[in-house]
Amino acid sequence: MSIKRISGPALSDLLQSLTGLLLVLFVWGHMFFESSILLGKDAMLWVTRMFEGEHIFGQPYPLLVSAVAAAIFALIALHAILALRKFPASAAQYRRFHQHMESMHHADTTLWYVQVVTGFSLFFLASAHVFLVFIQPDNIGPYASSDRIWSGRFWLLYAPLLVCVHLHAGIGIYRLVMKWAPIPAAQTQQVRRRLKIAMWGIIVFFIALGSASLVTYMKIGYDHADRVGERYHGADGRGGV
Ligand code: HEM
Repeated sequence: MSIKRISGPALSDLLQSLTGLLLVLFVWGHMFFESSILLGKDAMLWVTRMFEGEHIFGQPYPLLVSAVAAAIFALIALHAILALRKFPASAAQYRRFHQHMESMHHADTTLWYVQVVTGFSLFFLASAHVFLVFIQPDNIGPYASSDRIWSGRFWLLYAPLLVCVHLHAGIGIYRLVMKWAPIPAAQTQQVRRRLKIAMWGIIVFFIALGSASLVTYMKIGYDHADRVGERYHGADGRGGV
């Protein structure tokens, strides 16, 4: 089928899958960069400077971080608008879906519902985080992030965001593969079983990685609570973050 001939609901579905895939790849990559704090403050400082373009341009340009945040926000908005079409639209539809889900006991139907609930939560949780990154791109770093998370109590945002985003990303990728991969009918059950094991493995891995980083930021923020606002200067003593 050529792209030109795809239109209407099929085009919306394709775009929803593509925007979802890009967002999942971004979030998984982001988790590794953001977890650099597990390797120490200097490792996170290096990553922060890299995203500000300092390793290429010789000085930091936090606006680069704002530009990425704006692009991610646009992707989230497009993905959400396309997904809204599939949300139950009234109390009656919700009731009917619940009856359907409870009577069927079908794992993939339940997973779809988890996508609706986590997707809805992400409207708020992800938007709050990305907006903050957009308006304060120069406020990211070993001390700046840790102070925000502990003294600014942002762990209250990040803990539910972490769980929702990784459930949503893991289940989303599982559904993408089931939907678009050319799986021979005879192997569907076997592939489905294996994909589910991979899906849960990935979800548990990222939630564990994110929890370890979150606790590390909280610990640094706790130890730094009497010096909030002070920036971390690396071993070279250059501009701190
Ligand atoms: C340009 C876009 C983004 C940048 C630069 C960014 C950067 C960061 C940074 C530096 C942290 C550490 C805490 C802090 O400084 O506040 C963080 C935490 C986090 N971010 Fe992002 N982020 C972006 C987008 C996103 C998106 C789109 C999501 C998911 C929808 C996301 C999910 C998270 C989560 C779950 C945490 C907490 C991680 C943990 O528990 O260790 N971020 N982000």
